[in-house]
Amino acid sequence: MRRKIIAGNWKMHLLTDSAIDLAKSLAESIKDVDDVDIAIFPPAPYLILMKEVLKDSNIKYGAQNMHFAEKGAYTGELSPGMLKDIGCKLILVGHSERRKIFKESNELINSKLIAAINNHLTPYLCIGETLEERESGKLFEVIEEQLTIGLKSISEDDFNKIVIAYEPVWAIGTGKTATPEIAQEMHLFIRNWIKKNYSENTSEKMRILYGGSMKPENVKSLVSQPDIDGGLVGGASLKSESFSQIIRFSR
Ligand code: PGA
Repeated sequence: MRRKIIAGNWKMHLLTDSAIDLAKSLAESIKDVDDVDIAIFPPAPYLILMKEVLKDSNIKYGAQNMHFAEKGAYTGELSPGMLKDIGCKLILVGHSERRKIFKESNELINSKLIAAINNHLTPYLCIGETLEERESGKLFEVIEEQLTIGLKSISEDDFNKIVIAYEPVWAIGTGKTATPEIAQEMHLFIRNWIKKNYSENTSEKMRILYGGSMKPENVKSLVSQPDIDGGLVGGASLKSESFSQIIRFSR
């Protein structure tokens, strides 16, 4: 039985007071939950505050993006070492907004995954197809390419340190959730890819999250699918009440 993960991606929202309030109220409301892994990805300026706010909680935190280099002339970037230094345990890699707006390629994402693993940060690798790719029938090809290039040169041992999040781009922030059947079909495809390219054992252990308009009302039907192991939640993670309900309903 794979342990569920519910992770919140705060994107570019909140300010100091609201970030602290949200993290504190979330920690309080789910303090009894010990059977789900809980994570949040706050904006970078608030990460250092999380070290204190979340110190006695069951919530892990990480950044939404980083550079792959350890240091150097990369104005505006954050290194894996800096993130570790402020207590991050996790890192989002390859979110569709980074792929689309900041033109992140599968090759760049691969470098970031390797850097994360080398720095003992757990990468959440985000993959997903656009509506156009789905409608043109290329959806499995796109996902296969994101996996093949994104995971290039990553050993089975290291692959086991990764979490995968399948986020169909057309379902992100649109209110259009993939039906449990549509999501399950892709999760199974991903698990079979892992089986073929790594091993059956690793494919059985890998946690594959769904992301895209997940909310308290739909979480149960999604996570009850055999290959959906939790969620990466955007909008509904910005309110302690809805995010803690998602966590509770995922059990
Ligand atoms: P959403 O975002 O839940 O607001 O659709 C999900 C994500 O982008 O990770």
